[in-house]
Amino acid sequence: MSSEVIKQLQEAVQFSPENVPLRLHLAQVLLQDFQYQQAEEQYRKVLELSHDNIAAQLGLARTFYHQQKYSVAIVVLEQLEHQEPDNFDALLLHCRILVKENSMEGARDIYQHLLQLNPGFRDEALDGYFRAPQQQYNPASDEDGEDIEKIFTLEKPEINFNDVGGMEREKQEIDLKIIKPLQFPDLYKAYGKKAGGGILLYGPPGCGKTYLARATAGQIQAEFINVGIHDVLDMWIGNSEKNLHSLFELARESKPCVLFFDEVDALGANRTSMRNSGASHLINQFLSEMDGIAANNENVLIIGATNAPWSLDPAFRRPGRFDRIIFVAPPDQEGREEILKIQLRNKPVDSIDYRAIAKATPGYSGADLKAIVDLAIEDKLMEALQKGIPQPITQKDLLKATKLHRATTREWFNTARNYALYSNEAGLYDEVLKYLDIKK
Ligand SMILES: Nc1ncnc2c1ncn2[C@@H]1O[C@H](COP(=O)(O)OP(=O)(O)OP(=O)(O)O)[C@@H](O)[C@H]1O
Ligand SMILES: [Mg+2]
Repeated sequence: MSSEVIKQLQEAVQFSPENVPLRLHLAQVLLQDFQYQQAEEQYRKVLELSHDNIAAQLGLARTFYHQQKYSVAIVVLEQLEHQEPDNFDALLLHCRILVKENSMEGARDIYQHLLQLNPGFRDEALDGYFRAPQQQYNPASDEDGEDIEKIFTLEKPEINFNDVGGMEREKQEIDLKIIKPLQFPDLYKAYGKKAGGGILLYGPPGCGKTYLARATAGQIQAEFINVGIHDVLDMWIGNSEKNLHSLFELARESKPCVLFFDEVDALGANRTSMRNSGASHLINQFLSEMDGIAANNENVLIIGATNAPWSLDPAFRRPGRFDRIIFVAPPDQEGREEILKIQLRNKPVDSIDYRAIAKATPGYSGADLKAIVDLAIEDKLMEALQKGIPQPITQKDLLKATKLHRATTREWFNTARNYALYSNEAGLYDEVLKYLDIKK
């Protein structure tokens, strides 16, 4: 909605302040434009002019709802329902508010009323709460269950911490923060530490977030489910809530299990712009599914990964959710040396000075190092095809490849530096500052 339209409407209203339909229209436009306070004001004025105006009452309740003023919203809705007991939109809003307030019994009654008025009525979020359980996910009979497993493959990773070069700090943190609590829940409880909750890995691309999550599952011989949030959002528009629920169910049934959410910021980004699209339900549901896992110590480890932690809604970082945050930095020289050794394991090599190559590759990510090795191997393959004799990979080949493939992590730090310097709430990005050697 252009601000020009709003301005013109405001002028028109000033010109004829008693014109109820005009003012109502302005209020509606403001509401659609997320200007809840202004919309509230206009709806109130309409009601001053026209006491029983149903549209204005409903609109006013909506502005309250969006401002999370739930109890006043309910007062307005009750008055409306007194006049029009079967007003579908009012009942629907009422039902949603009661769910938000956790008044499930009242919400259920209204939900039944909605179904009476319209038996074909479907609402993913509300259905999730109130439909009979057999109509939800049931792996034995439900087709959706099968779909879920088709979309998300369960895998038992063959890599473990031994396959992860360097990253000693990250491995240790994961061990202390999620593996040990899983193995010794009673001990942790005795010291007042709760097991469960999730960890969030963040850092520049290619530095091993996904790889480390997979190795974590391998380390404890757990199943690994890899979920790309963009896939969830794209594939399931309209049906996401139900699928999200099925996904968490799948994880519960496959425990021990590492449930890995990649690009998790996509879910938490731009919450305001999502408000009207139904995606905010998805976020709320995601959070409550997470809370459920955390509360029940379910042997499901939740790991999220992101390149853009600053886009993540802070609600994701509350206790029991992604409350442990780990910066996955580019590997240091020793780490690079180990990664190179891992990448060249079981490959034909001539005596290689790994240390020298590690020295020549500051800022290279694990993925960059892998790219170097791949380049060198391709080169050797071509040579072998031409000469008919297989040749081992040499120091020279690798150094040549470092000239062809440059480090890719710098750009990320350009962005991250700004967030670390200017919006480092609660020391969230202290590790980034430390890496960049910036003193606070
Ligand atoms: N510490 C490491 N040890 C061995 N290999 C590594 C390591 N870090 C990265 N790699 C290699 O680099 C590849 C890319 O890493 P990965 O996909 O985990 O990066 P990422 O941090 O998830 O990147 P993105 O942010 O782009 O998703 C891995 O598949 C692996 O082969
Ligand atoms: Mg990744």
